[in-house]
Amino acid sequence: MSRWCVTNHRSPAPPLLILAVLSALLLIQPSIAWRPWPHHRNNATELELGGSKKYEGSSEFVKLRYHMGPVLTANITVHIIWYGTWPKAQKRIIREFINSISATSAQSPSVSGWWKTVQLYTDQTGSNISRTVRLGEEKNDRLLSHGKKLTRLSVQSVIKAAVTAKTKPLPISPKSGLYLLLTADDVYVQDFCQNVCGFHYFTYPSIVGYTLPYAWIGNSGKFCPGVCAYPFAVPDYIPGLKPMKSPNGNVGIDGMISVIAHEISELASNPLINAWYAGQDPVFPVEIADLCEGIYGTGGGGSYTGQMLNDRDGATYNMHGIRRRFLVQWVWNHVVNYCTGPNALD
Ligand SMILES: *[C@@H]1O[C@H](CO)[C@@H](O)[C@H](O)[C@H]1NC(C)=O
Ligand SMILES: *[C@@H]1O[C@H](CO)[C@@H](O)[C@H](O)[C@H]1NC(C)=O
Ligand SMILES: *[C@@H]1O[C@H](CO)[C@@H](O)[C@H](O)[C@H]1NC(C)=O
Repeated sequence: MSRWCVTNHRSPAPPLLILAVLSALLLIQPSIAWRPWPHHRNNATELELGGSKKYEGSSEFVKLRYHMGPVLTANITVHIIWYGTWPKAQKRIIREFINSISATSAQSPSVSGWWKTVQLYTDQTGSNISRTVRLGEEKNDRLLSHGKKLTRLSVQSVIKAAVTAKTKPLPISPKSGLYLLLTADDVYVQDFCQNVCGFHYFTYPSIVGYTLPYAWIGNSGKFCPGVCAYPFAVPDYIPGLKPMKSPNGNVGIDGMISVIAHEISELASNPLINAWYAGQDPVFPVEIADLCEGIYGTGGGGSYTGQMLNDRDGATYNMHGIRRRFLVQWVWNHVVNYCTGPNALD
């Protein structure tokens, strides 16, 4: 659900404060995930130092369970709603990421290698999540049909407008379609930056007319790159921490890619919030990407991102797509009981 989006940072000698922030997070919520949320700034220093022993999320306490609901086993089609003003160059990066999920041509470690962990999840009949994810139709909502501030409910009205539009409505495909509402960097969505960078759910028939799995992801470039585009930007309350160079030259979009990946992996494995999740409370399910937020490579865990890669220009990434490189968090592998990704060193 990405309620707890997180990212870890690789810093040569983590200042005390980072460790304090980290232990704050571990105390507040026992999962592995880490992102520098603003509410950790005020009391981070009060907390005792307690180094993390968690590596790549490995934990005997994680009880990810299957709750018998459907997962996306049919070829997946991702439909996009571009809300607000979206420059072509930004759209292109996001489209190429989605097209990379099933691309077999990309160099290893690849985005399609990352999706292999997601494919390990099955439904009641033993069918795996589909290997095929393709870009579907797109709809522009350039003029902000529901304003510059959206709530969780008005997000559904934006989707309704897109699937019921008089001209070129988005197709209705409840079994294989995913709907991504992507908001431009001047659009605020409820709880954005405070405790979400994106979320996923399904639409209510009473509002939209159908039950469709959807996600919202915001471009945090203007509002809170230090939170939602971390580690390509860092929060100002952690002094001395240097941002990493983003692989596609756009901090907001490069940060968004990992959140998009996070939400798509959870939509595939828990589209109606009754399939794969951990935790007691289905209102706040801890899902396959939540468990690995902030982990991008071997050794990751706590405030450490794990081993990543650097390109010739010094940009940080951990996987190849078609034509581009991306930094994408790992996802939980229920077969081995830790987070895995294509750039694992072992
Ligand atoms: C730190 O702040 C958060 C958010 O305000 C709060 O939920 C949490 O209980 C605080 N922790 C401590 C130890 O004060
Ligand atoms: C699903 O995708 C695969 C690979 O792209 C393709 O060969 C197959 O025909 C598709 N199946 C359906 C039902 O569209
Ligand atoms: C399907 O899921 C099972 C169980 O996790 C796994 O062993 C198998 O390798 C998966 N198949 C594919 C094609 O990923």
